[in-house]
Amino acid sequence: MSLFPPSLLPPSTLPDDLVLRPLHTEDLQLGHLDVLSVLSPTPALSPAQYTAIVQSMLARPDTYYPLVVFSPSSNKILACATLIVERKFLRGGGLVGHIEDVAVSQLAQGKGLGKVLVVALARLAESLGCYKCILDCSQDNIPFYEKCGFYQKEYEMVQYFGAAKKSQPTPSATSTAAAPEPSKPANL
Ligand SMILES: CC(C)(COP(=O)(O)OP(=O)(O)OC[C@H]1O[C@@H](n2cnc3c(N)ncnc32)[C@H](O)[C@@H]1OP(=O)(O)O)[C@@H](O)C(=O)NCCC(=O)NCCS
Repeated sequence: MSLFPPSLLPPSTLPDDLVLRPLHTEDLQLGHLDVLSVLSPTPALSPAQYTAIVQSMLARPDTYYPLVVFSPSSNKILACATLIVERKFLRGGGLVGHIEDVAVSQLAQGKGLGKVLVVALARLAESLGCYKCILDCSQDNIPFYEKCGFYQKEYEMVQYFGAAKKSQPTPSATSTAAAPEPSKPANL
């Protein structure tokens, strides 16, 4: 089963031997988690656990748009990325697209697949009515996202929780100094 209708996607610019399509429920067997592991720790999931995650996404309609590049000849997922659509109170209840978890399997990197995914998800965000599309990335990946039509604006802030808190660097002396007066909210 597809996580969203393929008809929502812009025409694919991939070579004929590759398929750009929504994630399928069966993609666990096609190496989806192996691809994600190039990005962040991705422990194995049982089919039941994978299906439960898919079901939780399907239970939030119009929100999750996971996209993959599939190679029929190798029967493998080569790359993946997800668009998440957020409803705002501002901008008259506007929509913001967030691109997350962009990953291309090691052997398939540098062949244009990442760009195809990111550009397709940005076009999808636009066609779904988002007024902007945003993402977080490392400094090293800024040139890649610039090639996909994005530009740099503002900074990412993060707090980790539970076991993931080990990933959080110790705050520097300057950042633990007396907190400044809260600033006025920006004009959004
Ligand atoms: C970053 C990543 C998604 C890029 O995907 P990719 O398929 O290898 O990149 P593409 O081949 O689509 O590159 C598109 C363009 O960006 C350029 N590019 C890609 N990565 C780049 C980098 N780190 N620095 C400079 N340029 C880069 C390519 O040269 C290409 O340029 P061109 O269009 O002029 O030929 C992929 O390398 C990856 O999965 N890396 C590990 C996980 C990761 O960091 N994910 C991003 C999380 S924010």
